[in-house]
Amino acid sequence: MDKFIIQGTKKLHGTVTIGGAKNASLALMPATLLASGNYELSNTPELRDVATMSKLLQTMGVTTERAGTTLKVNTFRVNKFEAPYEHVKKMRASIYVLGPLVARYGKARVSLPGGCAWGPRPVNLHLEGLKKLGASIDMESGYIIAKAKRLKGTRISFSVSSVGATGNIAMAAVLAKGTTQIENAAIEPEITNLLQFLVAMGARIHGIGTTTLEIEGVDALHPANCSTIPDRIEAGTMLVAGAMCGGKIIVDKCDPSHLSAVTSRLIDAGAKLTIGESSITIEAPKKITPVNIVTSVYPGFPTDMQAQWISLMSVAHGPSTVIDTIYTDRFKHVPELVRLGAVIELNDNIASIRGVKKLEGAKVMSTDLRASAALILAGLRAEGETEVLRVYHLDRGYESIEKKLTLLGADIKRVAGEEF
Ligand code: EPZ
Repeated sequence: MDKFIIQGTKKLHGTVTIGGAKNASLALMPATLLASGNYELSNTPELRDVATMSKLLQTMGVTTERAGTTLKVNTFRVNKFEAPYEHVKKMRASIYVLGPLVARYGKARVSLPGGCAWGPRPVNLHLEGLKKLGASIDMESGYIIAKAKRLKGTRISFSVSSVGATGNIAMAAVLAKGTTQIENAAIEPEITNLLQFLVAMGARIHGIGTTTLEIEGVDALHPANCSTIPDRIEAGTMLVAGAMCGGKIIVDKCDPSHLSAVTSRLIDAGAKLTIGESSITIEAPKKITPVNIVTSVYPGFPTDMQAQWISLMSVAHGPSTVIDTIYTDRFKHVPELVRLGAVIELNDNIASIRGVKKLEGAKVMSTDLRASAALILAGLRAEGETEVLRVYHLDRGYESIEKKLTLLGADIKRVAGEEF
């Protein structure tokens, strides 16, 4: 398993280009199951999770081919309607094939996703929504067996705002007979990207961008092309790198309108930001002002930026708290940051951070995607050498992060090889 070796305290300068959004691609790709034909999904990032989704779709008979940053998808020969455990255990987003398969083929056999590195990840809202649409849902040795002659439009009100359940149920409802209302729908930009793609395929969806969707089912959809939105979490991660390491960087090819919760807190932390149409320039503050955050659904502060923010606050001038209300157990990065000299106390889902003057390089272990990003950020800031082990977690959601950071002046090297 690869590791990164970082020599810290280098100031960052220059421009970093942001790729397509992982969490948009992981919904757009299975949406192609809804109609046979050829698709072009542009700005699709080259990530481990995208490769996993491609492999899963290929086991169903889909062909995918990369042409630069465009992913070409052909769904003429879908002949298998299941997502085996070996794929789902690697990536929970595999469950996104459930809605399209039941809607288009009337059946699906999808492994229940296990937990993830930081805890249980239930799918009850996905299953309850499909049942409300008229699907039969049975469980058989860890698999979800879903069947439906034809789904029927209905009213669904999510008890919790869920990105995945909103995407899955929307992809099921577009081919249902009749109209479906979805209340308390997620409004993350990745869901808007998906819903706009479904409309391009002929779906009839009203209320896109709001928490109440009305979907008039149609008998059939047709292929369409789609452009993947920029990855707001990669952009946010790079902005935090800019704030932590000193210097001035330009985060290019991003969508600043997707990042206002993060940019406003960075300004509160003392960073100087210049916000353009599709780029954000950040000048690091001399002193980082402590800023408390509470994560929430979009457009609030994203849980996927929580770990990175704790890294930043670990070198702020004063105390701060970070509360994660979405995932109350997503703090595997905290003990690793403490190894780097951070002073953080954890009580349930509240991290209390006392900023320190400096972090000291050490060996730390990646546990999940965003926790790994937090460790990289801290290593860039720390004095001396930091080794971040098991960086395959990072490769799931960041495209060649070490190359992008090196271009900004960081000293970070990937070392391939043995079990660490
Ligand atoms: C998506 O996961 C993202 N993944 C996650 O990003 C992100 O952290 C999360 O949304 C929240 O924004 C993808 O889009 C592939 P949820 P998802 O359903 O859809 C509870 C990353 O780092 N819930 O919005 O799985 C759940 O426990 C990843 O890129 C239920 O209770 O998240 C959580 O508390 C990590 N029952 C809350 O809802 C359900 O059936 C939000 O989860 C589903 C969810």
